[in-house]
Amino acid sequence: MIKTEIRGHISTIELARLDKKNALTSAMYAAMTDALAAAEARAAVRAILIHGTRDCFTAGNDLKDFLGDPASASKALEFVSVLSKVEKPVVAAVGGPAVGIGTTLLLHCDLVYATPGARFQLPFVPLGLVPEAASSLLLPRTAGHARAAKWLLLGEAFTAPEALAAGIVTEIVPEETLLERARAAATALAVLPPESVRLTKQLMKRPLAAEVAEQMAEEARLFAERLQSSEAKEAMAAFIEKRKPDFSRI
Ligand code: COA
Repeated sequence: MIKTEIRGHISTIELARLDKKNALTSAMYAAMTDALAAAEARAAVRAILIHGTRDCFTAGNDLKDFLGDPASASKALEFVSVLSKVEKPVVAAVGGPAVGIGTTLLLHCDLVYATPGARFQLPFVPLGLVPEAASSLLLPRTAGHARAAKWLLLGEAFTAPEALAAGIVTEIVPEETLLERARAAATALAVLPPESVRLTKQLMKRPLAAEVAEQMAEEARLFAERLQSSEAKEAMAAFIEKRKPDFSRI
């Protein structure tokens, strides 16, 4: 479900649960967190690459996991927290759906390549939840409140050109060359002086680091509460039962 590999100077994390649109389970988050820690610890690793396929990045957190075991959310929150502190540069290749954490994790990557068909969505409110991964802080800063409100409050999906314009995506690349382009960027990072890369990333992130950690903690507190709410339970049950949610009974 998560395939990890360290080859040469690049650590690769591949999301590979395509029958469920790469929906992320606790076990998958744990594997990704371990891979990040291993990449950070190994001196030979100079860049980290996260990808799915050209047609599917991830449908976000597994909603059955959320519904059946709300405590499982802690694995997701641990993963984004670790990702937000990774010192080595992280490259992401995004095609198809990038839902929920599939979009918020990108706010913690350094270079994000997306296909023209990539589709981003942050349906936390429609699911009865609140944003995570400090997206409630970072998205308004990057995209401005007006666009962030459309995506975080209404939960509207947005396209690759919109994500590029908002500063979430580095470059839009043709589907056929998505992985190649992302790998080339990781390779380009890997041949640069590693300490200079590390320090520059740190300098870029430093001004917001404390605020990001604080916002993540507050989001996590509310997220855990919301997962137990009847609103979230109805929204997630509706998805699993392939019906529209009905909040009028709540
Ligand atoms: N959790 C659990 N299962 C999921 C899932 C998720 N987040 N996203 C997709 N799946 C499953 C579907 O239930 C379906 O399973 P089935 O074949 O056993 O019925 C399978 O993956 C394929 O999904 P489907 O909805 O048929 O694919 P699609 O191409 O029509 O739509 C999405 C793709 C991503 C737009 C749609 O699956 C979706 O909206 N998923 C939920 C996204 C979400 O709310 N994530 C949580 C964010 S916090």
